[in-house]
Amino acid sequence: MTVRQMQDEIIRLKKEKDFCILAHAYQSQDIWDVADFIGDSFELSRKAASASQQNVLMCGVRFMAETVKILSPQKNVYISSPDAGCPMADQIDKDILSQLKTMYPDYTVVAYINTTADTKTLCDVCVTSSSAVKIVSRIENKNILFIPDSNLGAWCRDQLPDKNFKLISGGCPTHLRISLREVERVKALHPNALVLVHPECLPEVTAKADYAGSTTGIMKFAAQSDASEFIIGTENSIVEHLKFAHPEKQFYPLSKDCVCHNMKLTTLADVYDIVKNASGEEIILSDETIAAAKKPIDEMLRLGE
Ligand code: 13P
Ligand code: SF4
Repeated sequence: MTVRQMQDEIIRLKKEKDFCILAHAYQSQDIWDVADFIGDSFELSRKAASASQQNVLMCGVRFMAETVKILSPQKNVYISSPDAGCPMADQIDKDILSQLKTMYPDYTVVAYINTTADTKTLCDVCVTSSSAVKIVSRIENKNILFIPDSNLGAWCRDQLPDKNFKLISGGCPTHLRISLREVERVKALHPNALVLVHPECLPEVTAKADYAGSTTGIMKFAAQSDASEFIIGTENSIVEHLKFAHPEKQFYPLSKDCVCHNMKLTTLADVYDIVKNASGEEIILSDETIAAAKKPIDEMLRLGE
């Protein structure tokens, strides 16, 4: 079967078997081509809630599929590869968070959406990279305990000087591979290029950027900008998508090592298998976990309006 034939089969089967396919921006072009929605974490969580199909396949990592299940518990939600986790989400669990809450009782717990469903059950509000600053600015409490990404937390803190942030030492291993030295080296090679980065990057990297934002924020900025050269500081699939969408512009990766192997575990053949045989892993969460984890996500959707 060729790639095109497999894609045609997936498109036929997903209608027949009532599947909605959601693809995170880091997925490859062949998967984008068969998806019903493509987006960053915030957009995907909103789309998941409004999708009419009974079955949802999340092409992304586990916390994203869990978010879909929490928002649509009556649906069958699948992830293609049981191993597709987010190492940052696994850096904090309920035990660690319980200890932090005891240490900082007067703080509102703000959880990056990149957390497990279990961890979310103890949080007050979730945020995504595209919504974090807006949502934290709308929280009444001045005291914010931000978990688990200290880089996204620091980026919010710098824009919200009236808030009192406590950060913990978590972060994305993929974005942490981008160093200030890399920024200086690539900028010297392409002095006219604008630097666009994800706020999961180190603060000294984000400080050098012309724009910092979510995965789709970066793509929208590049699409709308009059500039013709861009240095991209996020997972390198975004460089490929941008080259594909804007062949008249130049895109350079900030680091050749900025690859999220977990995001790369999903292949077109997996997508085909799942819509054909309902294989893959179905996300199962207890009613208690769903009810408790839904509160901070609902709060995110309410404050993010
Ligand atoms: P976005 O919210 O920008 O899609 O980011 C999710 C993510 O995991 C980035 O590494
Ligand atoms: Fe998690 Fe980083 Fe991969 Fe995003 S890029 S899914 S934060 S490990």
